[in-house]
Amino acid sequence: MSIRIAMAGQKGGVKKSATARALGTAFAGAGMRVLIADFDPKQTTCTKWNLRRQSRFPDLPAIAVKPYASVAQCLREADEYDVVIFDPGAFASEIMVEAAAQAHCVILPTALGLDDLEPSVDLANGLVQRGVDPQRIAFALHPAGDSDSELAAAREYLGQTPYATLDGYVPQMTIYSMAHDLGLSVIEARSPVPRQKAERMIQSAINTISALAN
Ligand SMILES: Nc1ncnc2c1ncn2[C@@H]1O[C@H](COP(=O)(O)OP(=O)(O)OP(=O)(O)O)[C@@H](O)[C@H]1O
Ligand SMILES: [Mg+2]
Repeated sequence: MSIRIAMAGQKGGVKKSATARALGTAFAGAGMRVLIADFDPKQTTCTKWNLRRQSRFPDLPAIAVKPYASVAQCLREADEYDVVIFDPGAFASEIMVEAAAQAHCVILPTALGLDDLEPSVDLANGLVQRGVDPQRIAFALHPAGDSDSELAAAREYLGQTPYATLDGYVPQMTIYSMAHDLGLSVIEARSPVPRQKAERMIQSAINTISALAN
């Protein structure tokens, strides 16, 4: 069976697709066949990003990104891939819950202020009420600001929940959105320090996912 990862977020623009792309390119770089299921039929931002990637960087690790109308439709093709990443649309939806229920690991990217942390924890609690195993849920500190004390406070806040928090963080930086414009992921950003920051968090995600999938 393929490794299945679900992205989730209570609000739009919380970096679900950015985290999905980074995970996808990391697994593809390790030689795995990767599918990102784009459940955002209006925007299909991941699908369009992958078209930019294929045309500009045909030599980079290739991933499949396809739009799907339902989780069931995606699961019919899932066994063709080693890794399937469910990327739901902007707001918490039934598809997001269904995808989370099918995943070995559910990743919730969150910014660091209480305005973002509280809804992220509420969403995690809601997923658990809908049957998701709390041990399968992990927060990703993405996007972070420029304050170490805010990072520490966010880790402490999330540390009081039953859910894991990935190591590392990805800051809010233009270099990452520029990478997306080119068809690259945050772990392929064209500047070493931001790239290494993203790599650290994504490696932590891969370690967590691998442990859960085994
Ligand atoms: N670390 C970052 N720094 C700056 N910009 C970023 C970063 N990560 C992602 N972005 C940009 O922020 C925007 C929102 O990110 P993304 O598309 O990943 O969010 P999302 O949760 O998938 O949004 P939606 O809810 O619309 O699906 C995009 O324009 C993306 O390129
Ligand atoms: Mg998205």
